[in-house]
Amino acid sequence: MRSSGWPLARLALHLLVLLTRSYCSLAEGPTYRPAVEEAFKTMTDGNISAILDSLQTGYDKRIRPQYGESHVDVGITMYILSISSLSEVQMGKGSFTAATNSGRAAAMTPAGGSNAGEGPESDGPSQDFTLDFYFRQHWTDPRLSFPGRGGLDELTVGSEYLQKIWVPDTFFANEKKSYFHTATTSNEMLRITNQGKVLRSIRLTITASCPMNLQYFPMDRELCIIEIESFGYSMDHIRLSWHAGDRSVVIESDVSLPQFRVLGYNRKTIISSTSTGNYSRLLCEIMFVRSMGYYLIQIYIPSSLIVVISWVSFWLNRSATPARVSLGVTTVLTMTTLMSSTNAALPKISYVKSIDVYLGTCFVMVFASLLEYAAVGYMGKRIQMRKNRILAIQKMAEQRKTATLDHSHASQDHPDHAPKQTEVRYKLHDPKAHSKGGTLENTINGRADEEAPPPIANLLPHKDINKGLNKLYGCSPSDIDKYSRIVFPVCFVCFNLMYWIIYLHISDDSTEDLILHNQEN
Ligand SMILES: *[C@@H]1O[C@H](CO)[C@@H](O)[C@H](O)[C@H]1NC(C)=O
Ligand SMILES: *[C@@H]1O[C@H](CO)[C@@H](O)[C@H](O)[C@H]1NC(C)=O
Repeated sequence: MRSSGWPLARLALHLLVLLTRSYCSLAEGPTYRPAVEEAFKTMTDGNISAILDSLQTGYDKRIRPQYGESHVDVGITMYILSISSLSEVQMGKGSFTAATNSGRAAAMTPAGGSNAGEGPESDGPSQDFTLDFYFRQHWTDPRLSFPGRGGLDELTVGSEYLQKIWVPDTFFANEKKSYFHTATTSNEMLRITNQGKVLRSIRLTITASCPMNLQYFPMDRELCIIEIESFGYSMDHIRLSWHAGDRSVVIESDVSLPQFRVLGYNRKTIISSTSTGNYSRLLCEIMFVRSMGYYLIQIYIPSSLIVVISWVSFWLNRSATPARVSLGVTTVLTMTTLMSSTNAALPKISYVKSIDVYLGTCFVMVFASLLEYAAVGYMGKRIQMRKNRILAIQKMAEQRKTATLDHSHASQDHPDHAPKQTEVRYKLHDPKAHSKGGTLENTINGRADEEAPPPIANLLPHKDINKGLNKLYGCSPSDIDKYSRIVFPVCFVCFNLMYWIIYLHISDDSTEDLILHNQEN
């Protein structure tokens, strides 16, 4: 009986003690570290130095909060003050490098900001962007909690105190250079609440790489990413998160870049797996849209006008060779210059950009109008040659006719060929001096029989002959000019319509899950 009763009673007693204990702890509120408790017991008024000192006693800053219990949640928010450059080609290393170097001398906490030396030397063109922002980290360190007496629930302390407490070793994975601001003192802030919640805010300027896809240049949209990660603590120790939901990233409304407009941003949380473990990584994606204005004014409109100027040639007299040739050559050369100057400012990429499509088409148009004049000129020459030949044959035929009338009795005996050829050769030398006698002779000797037999030419009325003579393959040089006046502008207008519809439409997507910037504007 004794053996069965006692354990029950002891169990009941234990339960009672446990219950009272938990009740008491609930009533008393949170427990503090013994050192803090001790200090607060003796402290009568809100002696801040005493509080800070007491928080330090027995504090090991090498150890993260809640070691062995759970991971630390580090909440992050960013307030972007300015985006100073976004470039497809970084022209050398400018003043920013100097600023970085001087910034390195500043007091930097070992864990927080970047105190790396010279970044990897990059001599090729680099695509990057520079951001100036407040970087805020929120985390809870229960060792820093203290009894909030007399309305003292938050301590705002000098950033020197950061040297004495644990801070997350956050870094920017795709950073190239960073600058920690030190005017007038280090731009850093620390707040500790009585529940041990720590807020650390730093002002940073970061140049991060931003690989660009220039396929739709200059109608492109560029997505630049800032990658935030803990350097040493894996997922088991530190988990990063966006602290304020949709408001975690704020871009100041008057952020402006000369060539870009900030379209919006997106934030993501991912896990980056490396050989040393899985790390929690935050991504802040900022979408930029290129302002077309510069390219419209400097490239699109001039190149279109050059194409239009090349059409002037179609209205000029066909015999105005110097005017038409120089117009054609000038426009071709101007297009070449425009194309090369446009591409000089861009990285030497191997794929075709949309500006290349436009400039290439303009070049082809200009080149085609130069070729059109070549065609007109060549056709004019061919027609002139044929005309000369037919005239010569006509004259010869007339001579033969008169000859037959005069010497009708003698004509039957002679073979046709020998006298005809000599006659032609003789006649050809006199009518037009500008074409070469030799070629004319050859052509005529070669083709006289197949193309225009003298009897037919002889039979036709004179008006029709002249009409037919001005055409080659059914069209005359002036017809080519006439058609060109319509075909060239129509082709160019169609191309423009297609070009703008296609490219403006293509570059319009990929904004699905974006939080838009300046939505109200
Ligand atoms: C505050 O505490 C410090 C010790 O931590 C002590 O030296 C100082 O005299 C205290 N000041 C006041 C006003 O009590
Ligand atoms: C990292 O995560 C993957 C799955 O996401 C898992 O298979 C792997 O074991 C993890 N590695 C470590 C070191 O925890």
